[in-house]
Amino acid sequence: MVAPLKVGIAGLGTVGAEVVRVIERQAATLTARCGRPIKVVAVTARSKAKKRGLDLRGIDWAKSPLAIATDPNVDCFVELIGGAGDPAGPAIEAALAAGKSVVTANKALIAKHGLKLAALAEKHGGALNYEAAVGAAIPVIKTLREGLAGTGIDRIYGILNGTCNYILTRMEQEGLSFEACLADAQRLGYAEADPTFDIDGHDTAQKLSILASLAFGTKVSESAVYVEGIRSITPEDLRAADDLGYRVKLLGVAVRTAKGIEQRVHPTMVPKTSSIAQVMGVTNAVTIDGQGIPPITLVGAGAGAAATASAVVADIADVARGIRAEPFGRPVAGLKAISKAPMERHEGGYYLRMLARDHAGTAATIATRLAEQDISIESIVQRQPDRGDGKAKSGPVPVILITYATSEDAVRRALKAVQADKVISGRPQVIRIEKN
Ligand code: HSE
Repeated sequence: MVAPLKVGIAGLGTVGAEVVRVIERQAATLTARCGRPIKVVAVTARSKAKKRGLDLRGIDWAKSPLAIATDPNVDCFVELIGGAGDPAGPAIEAALAAGKSVVTANKALIAKHGLKLAALAEKHGGALNYEAAVGAAIPVIKTLREGLAGTGIDRIYGILNGTCNYILTRMEQEGLSFEACLADAQRLGYAEADPTFDIDGHDTAQKLSILASLAFGTKVSESAVYVEGIRSITPEDLRAADDLGYRVKLLGVAVRTAKGIEQRVHPTMVPKTSSIAQVMGVTNAVTIDGQGIPPITLVGAGAGAAATASAVVADIADVARGIRAEPFGRPVAGLKAISKAPMERHEGGYYLRMLARDHAGTAATIATRLAEQDISIESIVQRQPDRGDGKAKSGPVPVILITYATSEDAVRRALKAVQADKVISGRPQVIRIEKN
């Protein structure tokens, strides 16, 4: 019998406990697929007394994550504690320095300290697998790192945050308020402990920085990502998008441009006919535009115990098989530095919504200011809202425009001029359009 892979797990929350269950339930399949058994030999968590419904007999309860990471009886250290600092970080460093392989679901740690950890893994020969950190059950890390190792990539974009997609879907389909949808996302356990991390786009930015590194060979850099969240999106925007043939999604986009790699996270209008527009609720999706091949879209559960455990166990299986890929798909020394691409340079179509003062010449003024910046209008809708009795309301009129491709700089200049003309009230809404 080939020796088992001996696994130590730090963190027995919903994901950690599910990983223990899956390894036990799938023992025969895993042994057959890996050619050797996978055995959990040590675990640790904050509370030993907590009821988890797990049979931990025969498994060592270690006094700390570090104790497991340095235990000579453990071959593979599985970190499921979370957080970019202590105790997860030092324990992973210790395990890698001891030549062990590490499996983690910790996107914050990989986004912030991935390079240092990858260098340690490279130096000491262990694997550093983190499939669950992005899109949970969706095997996107493996797809980029291994499946597309021979393919140049031009763009990768996706819905990487289930909480935001859940909120936007329910606002669109049920006309609910942002606050009500967020409260439900928290109740259902999709949102991070601090939900601002989800709704302000930072969770997506961390995941995007990891995908961009794998796709373009850049150093993982969260600070090189332009970030906008979904707080400004209103039911009016979702209705207008629907009327115009679009849906609004919070996308993470990393794209190769003539001026370098652009990484951005923002609410985005996508054509209703695109694959990504069909993705509803808490589901995640990633589309990869590879050179010479049609786009690949991966869709699946981006959060939850079963989805995350699925990816964690697959990563452990790779260690059991003796498969080791460089954590970011190439040696750390070959990764290129990247800085934030100025958003003013971004080029694409735009959705603009303004509340126009209701007097003659307003629409002409707006059109003139756009024309001065060479912005061509694809469609324009000016609709006085209904009073509720079939008659139009008086007062400001929403004007909604879709532009052809232009630059962000031109849009900002045009809107500044429109505001200075005092023909609109409040701030204009601006949503970028991403074509498939
Ligand atoms: N809060 C994250 C989400 C969980 O909503 O997608 C998975 O990273």
